[in-house]
Amino acid sequence: MIKKLKSHGTWIGKWTFILAATGSAVGLGNIWGFPYKAGTNGGGAFVLIYLLCIVMIGVPIMISEIIIGRRAGNSPINAMKRTALDSNSSSLWQFVGWSGITAGVLILSFYSVIAGICLNYIFIAASSNEFLSSSEQFGSVIESPANLLFWHSVFMLLTFLIVSAGVKNGIGRMVKILMPMLGALLIFMVIYAIFNGAFIKALSFLFAPDFSSVTSETFLSAMGQAFFSLSLGMGSIMAYGAYMPKDQKVVPTSFTVASLDTLVAMLAGLAIFPIIFAFNLEPNSGPGLVFVSMLSAFNQMQFGQLIGPIFFILLSIAALSSSISLLEPGVAFLSEEGYLSRKNSALAISLFAWSLGIGTALSFNTLSGFELISGKNFLDSLDFIANQILLPFGGMMIAIFVGWFMKKELIINEIGYVNLIIYKLWRFFIKFIAPTSVALIFISQIF
Ligand code: TRP
Repeated sequence: MIKKLKSHGTWIGKWTFILAATGSAVGLGNIWGFPYKAGTNGGGAFVLIYLLCIVMIGVPIMISEIIIGRRAGNSPINAMKRTALDSNSSSLWQFVGWSGITAGVLILSFYSVIAGICLNYIFIAASSNEFLSSSEQFGSVIESPANLLFWHSVFMLLTFLIVSAGVKNGIGRMVKILMPMLGALLIFMVIYAIFNGAFIKALSFLFAPDFSSVTSETFLSAMGQAFFSLSLGMGSIMAYGAYMPKDQKVVPTSFTVASLDTLVAMLAGLAIFPIIFAFNLEPNSGPGLVFVSMLSAFNQMQFGQLIGPIFFILLSIAALSSSISLLEPGVAFLSEEGYLSRKNSALAISLFAWSLGIGTALSFNTLSGFELISGKNFLDSLDFIANQILLPFGGMMIAIFVGWFMKKELIINEIGYVNLIIYKLWRFFIKFIAPTSVALIFISQIF
């Protein structure tokens, strides 16, 4: 017997779901992850494969997650279970929800450490430090375990507080005002980069694909980044779908969220790489990329000590509106099953993710030599397991389920009226293209 969600309500207003889903999607993945991964994977070809993954795999799966989430309950485990049973399939499909919750906790653990660095940078950007270059500055931030752990704790506490109050009350307003501000500030940084950075060089780095450096790993990494950036494959969007009003259209909404997310990633790339090239920094320097490049820009810019902190405040808020969607599916499950209250569920899971985060914080300093997976430190290992295995796997299973097992009437009921061609296209992508692309990219790793 599957319990009904106790606190189920819908978000009022046409825009709230789009805002919440965009809030979940837009975060560190776009502004921290995308540029540094494009940088370490050689630029243009990675970007092109990433964009293809968004369109061919990401959008069709986002539509599917919303469909499942909206017609069922809140937590992805029960949503999968109920939809499977209603489609006369096995309740074992709930394992998709379990793998999602696992991925969510793993991601939250390192997400919070990186978001903690953003919080720290609010203060760093406010005070000028003439003695350290921006690279040395980043070095001094990450070399101190106590510093990283402090800010990691602050960020996790904020995430916990919002989720325990209930996402419904927690985010609507925050996203509505602050996300557009972040967008505006990014556009400002791109304009700054056009005039003060090596813009043409950045354009060709990001958009002129060099296929000679493409390996099967480039594909895996770009696909993982696409899932991560759109918040797909673990149930975040499914959990939010549960709050989406019935009269809202699933397909256009998914396109809107995916476009906004992609736009922000591209703006971040266009703001960061011109600075990287102008200051002779390394495009493949890894997770410090956004911090080092943006701080270099703010140090040079008039009013940089004012604009810098605002940038990092908005980025932290974008991270917060994403981290709550990482915590929500697990919390929704524990509380709707009645094991624990909402508050205690949030406490239990965030404490667990917090402890795991210690490993990531130490991977920047004391434990930098420790490899969980060979050749990868703790952060890279978790990133690999979650983004490149669990999320695509979850997404592939969702595609297979919706494409091949879910009852057609149930789908039509949710998707509502759409243009027949669009519907057929989506069916084709979700049945064939999305699952086989993920499978092929997986298989290519073995050879
Ligand atoms: N998409 C967010 C970002 O880009 C992170 C995120 C939130 C996420 N929920 C998720 C990633 C679910 C994967 C799965 O920062």
